[in-house]
Amino acid sequence: MIDVLLGLQWGDEGKGKIVDYLANQYQVVARFQGGPNAGHTLILDGKKYVLHTIPSGIFRDNVLNLIGNGVVIDPITLQKELAMLAESGLTFKDRLFVAQKAHLILPTHRLLDAVQEAAKGKSKIGSTLRGIGPTYTDKIGRQGLRVGDILAPDFKKRYDALKWLHIQQASQYPKVEFNLKEEEEKWLASVEELRQLNLVDGEYFIDDCLKKGQRILAEGAQGSMLDIDFGTYPFVTSSNTITAGVCNGLGVAPQRIGEVIGITKAYCTRVGGGPFPTELDNDLGEQIRQAGGEFGATTGRPRRCGWIDLPQLKYTVMLNGVTQLVMTKVDILNDFEQLTAATHYDCNGKITDRVPFDINQDNLKPVWKNYTGWSQDLDQVKEFDQFPQALKDYVQDMENILGVPFSIISTGPGREQLVLCQKTVSADNQ
Ligand code: GDP
Ligand code: IMO
Ligand code: MG
Repeated sequence: MIDVLLGLQWGDEGKGKIVDYLANQYQVVARFQGGPNAGHTLILDGKKYVLHTIPSGIFRDNVLNLIGNGVVIDPITLQKELAMLAESGLTFKDRLFVAQKAHLILPTHRLLDAVQEAAKGKSKIGSTLRGIGPTYTDKIGRQGLRVGDILAPDFKKRYDALKWLHIQQASQYPKVEFNLKEEEEKWLASVEELRQLNLVDGEYFIDDCLKKGQRILAEGAQGSMLDIDFGTYPFVTSSNTITAGVCNGLGVAPQRIGEVIGITKAYCTRVGGGPFPTELDNDLGEQIRQAGGEFGATTGRPRRCGWIDLPQLKYTVMLNGVTQLVMTKVDILNDFEQLTAATHYDCNGKITDRVPFDINQDNLKPVWKNYTGWSQDLDQVKEFDQFPQALKDYVQDMENILGVPFSIISTGPGREQLVLCQKTVSADNQ
């Protein structure tokens, strides 16, 4: 079976940490969408690693890692990650596989991202400017280049043709600073390194692993509210970040999907533009930002902070078919005497627990519920029963409202800083 782990908010829920923790229960970890817009942080023996393209199972010795066909790959970022891992002393090259059908991010995709964002002015998406949107646009437009194409004799010719097309497109927009010659040199050199990796037909790779009875964990990037179809459009990313994305991002049938593990922070963050009903654009929000170190792992931008949003979580639990929940960063709320959550929205005077079509409207107000804080350090807690009652109440109320049990509560950034709840990932899930 393939289990799935993905974010239920706007990204940065702590997916990297939890995938790394769970990875030793699996033989394979596979990324199925997104690209270097992702920044997944792992803290191992006090050292910080940020992965953008490589799956977060890479630090587990016996785990194979696949970059699936649904991912968009920038060979330059990938090369940097390979160098970072090699520098850390990790042996991994025989455990890393790249799907030939994954699309390539060209330097000119980044150029297009930059000019298109700049032209949007105030209504910009807040893209990470990693070329994600333009690369998926070319994929859907049936003119993209894929990893397998780098083996073709006419690859350079095809690269040049697409590059010129991009340059023409970019010339329609006001200019931005971009050193194409320099970026292209780096890119072509990094493509050489990509050629040396294990390039596979990802769909057969996964099928072979499943036939051998191996367990696979699909690692999501971004979060469900950034999904191209169901997120806060147009302030979204350009891929399907929800469970459905696993099927076309890896080439697997839906009945092969087992557990769906959905992650939420104990509060909520968002980086970039777009609606955020529970945002705290005030001192309290700043307090959470500082306590939680809420600055982007990819771009370093300050993340917008707010309270947990239950209509939104209900929505993403529904969309993904979540079977178990993980809550991260509860320790960040240790010093808050009172916590708050939105249970409903007041939408033009109508109270609803549904996410409306137009979440952008100014007259959507959260309906709040208060919780007593636990005002206690959690470092010594090793079992759920040892949590302060106020934290148990907070978690159990969320379980009741969302109708899904929590399996893990994370109390710090380190690999072992977490507490398992009653429902843990089923060990006999083959
Ligand atoms: P991802 O994109 O979902 O993998 O998340 P990021 O790595 O972008 O952001 C999550 C941040 O929170 C990282 O800096 C993690 O090291 C950190 N983190 C994860 N879980 C916890 C936790 O339970 N407590 C604390 N304090 N930090 C955590
Ligand atoms: P991880 O995997 C948080 C946001 C960007 C922007 C929007 C579109 O680390 O959780 P894009 O570059 O995809 O065109 O940007 O999506 N975004 C993320 N926010 N975490 C991420 O990834 C994100 N990837 C993209 O900030 O608002
Ligand atoms: Mg991140």
